[in-house]
Amino acid sequence: MLTIRSATPDDVEQIAHVHVDSWRTTYPGIVPGEYLAALSIPDRVTAWREGIASGIAVHVAQLNGEIVGFISGGPIREPIGIYDGELYAVYLLQQAQGQGIGRALLQGLAGWLLGQGLKSMAVWVLEQNPAKHFYMRTGAERLVSKSIEIGGAILSEAAYGWPDLRSLVKDSWRNSIGLTSTQFPNRRRHPPTSHRPN
Ligand SMILES: CC(C)(COP(=O)(O)OP(=O)(O)OC[C@H]1O[C@@H](n2cnc3c(N)ncnc32)[C@H](O)[C@@H]1OP(=O)(O)O)[C@@H](O)C(=O)NCCC(=O)NCCS
Repeated sequence: MLTIRSATPDDVEQIAHVHVDSWRTTYPGIVPGEYLAALSIPDRVTAWREGIASGIAVHVAQLNGEIVGFISGGPIREPIGIYDGELYAVYLLQQAQGQGIGRALLQGLAGWLLGQGLKSMAVWVLEQNPAKHFYMRTGAERLVSKSIEIGGAILSEAAYGWPDLRSLVKDSWRNSIGLTSTQFPNRRRHPPTSHRPN
């Protein structure tokens, strides 16, 4: 059974584990290896503890009791046109990918942002990350691009955006505004890594 719920301070260790693990399976060949090797779970624990306390949305996906993914978002941090909300991060363990969990987390975040009075959502993604296809598949349009430095490498990243958050929640499995906890049967629709390079 899959549960999508708001994170609590007790979840920060597992969120940090998912975060570091997912970076290390997603970004080899994109982000310098030394940078990935140096990622620190204690640093992530601190950052997520602060994130949860700050009032941004942090939602976790729990599969049969284990946290396998998370999403965070809130008001946009850097202006992009009319966009007022932002998806800050979404990461799943590799073995949990490709089962609809990312879409469920996205819909939950969209509902939360609508509940905050926000209307749209943007996200920044590295050009080489196939996750951009996930964003396009869920209705996002490409907005702008820029360079970013990560671990000494200059990389290109693009912003994608959903101009109307209602389009994300309208086909949602449930009304997730004010999300606290939602359960639904898990489903596997395609092999977890079939469309990914790693
Ligand atoms: C990106 C991510 C959150 C997507 O979550 P997911 O659970 O794997 O995606 P879903 O199963 O919900 O897929 C939803 C739709 O997007 C499509 N999709 C998902 N990832 C895709 C990809 N890499 N390429 C092409 N299509 C993709 C699915 O096929 C599905 O389409 P459908 O509705 O027609 O069946 C997840 O794969 C992940 O954590 N990736 C590694 C971390 C990462 O890159 N995070 C983003 C950083 S910006």
